[in-house]
Amino acid sequence: MNKSPNHQITKSPNPKHYLTVSDLASDEILFLINRALKLKKCYKSGQPYRPAIGKVIGLLFEKPSTRTRVSFEAAMLQLGGNVTFLSSRDLQLRRGEPLKDTARVLSRYLDCLVVRTFGQVVVDELARWSDIPVINGLTDQHHPCQVLSDIMTVMEHKHEDMKALKVAWVGDGNNVAHSWIQAASRLGFALALACPEGYEPDKEILSRAQTESAAPITLTTDPKEAVESADVINADVWASMGQEEETSKRREIFAPYQINEALLAKAKTDAIVLHCLPAHRGEEISEKVLEGPHSLVWDQAENKMHLHKTVLQWAMGL
Ligand code: CP
Ligand code: NVA
Repeated sequence: MNKSPNHQITKSPNPKHYLTVSDLASDEILFLINRALKLKKCYKSGQPYRPAIGKVIGLLFEKPSTRTRVSFEAAMLQLGGNVTFLSSRDLQLRRGEPLKDTARVLSRYLDCLVVRTFGQVVVDELARWSDIPVINGLTDQHHPCQVLSDIMTVMEHKHEDMKALKVAWVGDGNNVAHSWIQAASRLGFALALACPEGYEPDKEILSRAQTESAAPITLTTDPKEAVESADVINADVWASMGQEEETSKRREIFAPYQINEALLAKAKTDAIVLHCLPAHRGEEISEKVLEGPHSLVWDQAENKMHLHKTVLQWAMGL
């Protein structure tokens, strides 16, 4: 049998995992976003770009997904590679096989693993035992790929220099908020968070970000204060995946945090509105704002695919 290059040898001894935004230096973040903007142009011009021929990634998802799943799948297929979707329901994980065994076995078949799960400890454990890069496709604590494509959208439509902008986060201090906090710390832009009492971001994530950077990262309970003169307003669901039983309680508590025309009027006149989606119209965002001229949510969703291409390339060293 002809000897073909040993698949193991092509793998890095130190896989480049992407588990939180803080895993990246500021120049790496900007490099990934700028390359995603170039890849978007390349895709729109119909130019094929296939550096991932022969590579296979796995998507191990324990929570539902429309955008992250399909944009990673399309990204990898467009890069010339292949994808296998691994629902945790169908794996031996469901019958108690340890994460460390799963990680070592999948490392022998795949070139990269994208994971959507509950605890951050799960992606940490998979990364610890994996010989291939592990990418966080959302945990209860972080959504690091989402926020890179959100910033890509801001840089594309607003300003290349994020430091010149004020970004507001209105609502739950959740996984996406945590990734925005870490991104503000890395890139040095102003981030004003407005969260109800008891629903603030994790204290340690917030204080570490504030200590590590001179960026003004502020927290208030007043949505008007956060949105005042903002260039970018971010919305997200009030009850994240896994918090469904809290939905009605949260609807009451979060009602003053809806992004509607009255709140939008406090921001700059040319402010843009982002929502990572899925959106609940009439809850965290009004129909008029979601479908109105300030909303960039469809471009934002589209950019996930281009950004995921650069993350895959970076992680696999292509
Ligand atoms: N924004 C986002 O992660 O969407 P999905 O849950 O559909 O992947
Ligand atoms: N905070 C939301 C984001 C969905 C993309 C959740 O975790 O459900």
